[in-house]
Amino acid sequence: MRRFAPLIPAGGRVLDLAAGAGRHARLLLDMGFMVEAVDREVVALLPLTGPRCTVRAIDLETGDAWPLGGGYQGIVVTNYLYRPLLPAIVAAVGEGGVLIYETFMLGNERFGRPRNPEFLLHPGELLDACVGLTVAAFEQGEVTAPRPAMMQRIAAINGAVGRLPYGRYSAASGRGARSGGAKLRSCCNDGTMRRASAMRPGSICAVTIPSRSPPSASTSPHGSTINEWP
Ligand SMILES: C[S@@+](CC[C@H](N)C(=O)[O-])C[C@H]1O[C@@H](n2cnc3c(N)ncnc32)[C@H](O)[C@@H]1O
Repeated sequence: MRRFAPLIPAGGRVLDLAAGAGRHARLLLDMGFMVEAVDREVVALLPLTGPRCTVRAIDLETGDAWPLGGGYQGIVVTNYLYRPLLPAIVAAVGEGGVLIYETFMLGNERFGRPRNPEFLLHPGELLDACVGLTVAAFEQGEVTAPRPAMMQRIAAINGAVGRLPYGRYSAASGRGARSGGAKLRSCCNDGTMRRASAMRPGSICAVTIPSRSPPSASTSPHGSTINEWP
């Protein structure tokens, strides 16, 4: 989330779908976006309501038509899957907008919940769902942090291939933090920096520029914990 949210056009309207307690809605507000936070349970989200944040209580799984319209400059979905919604989610990304989607995939059963295959992506499923968008990043595999799990994640743009984010959004500075160090290394999801030769097969690792702080969970000014895309 933190790595790719800076790709969302500045000040844009962003949908946090199945927003839960609002950890990403808070981060997006911190980043200056207009946020629509949607969940069937909104008690924890209601305090975020304000001039830049709309909270909507919607059951997304009634089988009714997509209730949220389109043209979003950003859509964020994490740890939630209702497969029939995937086409509508992709279609709701406006021109130049960005979809950031991360959730569990098949194989997660051996680590814990969710185990129900309905809630687990198939290999490559997010890539397939994003046909028509430009994929900026895609990962799938086993992660060790914040706990062992099988995850899949994508950042895809409704537009041409463009710039990749340089560094990550820093809640402390309120802007994209530039990372120190010129040497490319591999930053693994458990927060460690390793040479490619030292990586475990199947683990999720991305080539990135090392940051000054470890890429693990961190705390926003609102006190919410944010798990970062490594
Ligand atoms: C595991 S939580 C993820 C929350 C948040 N995206 C995050 O990563 O912190 C899943 C969320 O999906 C919401 N949810 C589950 N079924 C839903 C439905 N039918 N309609 C709307 N929201 C639903 C739950 O209320 C819960 O907040």
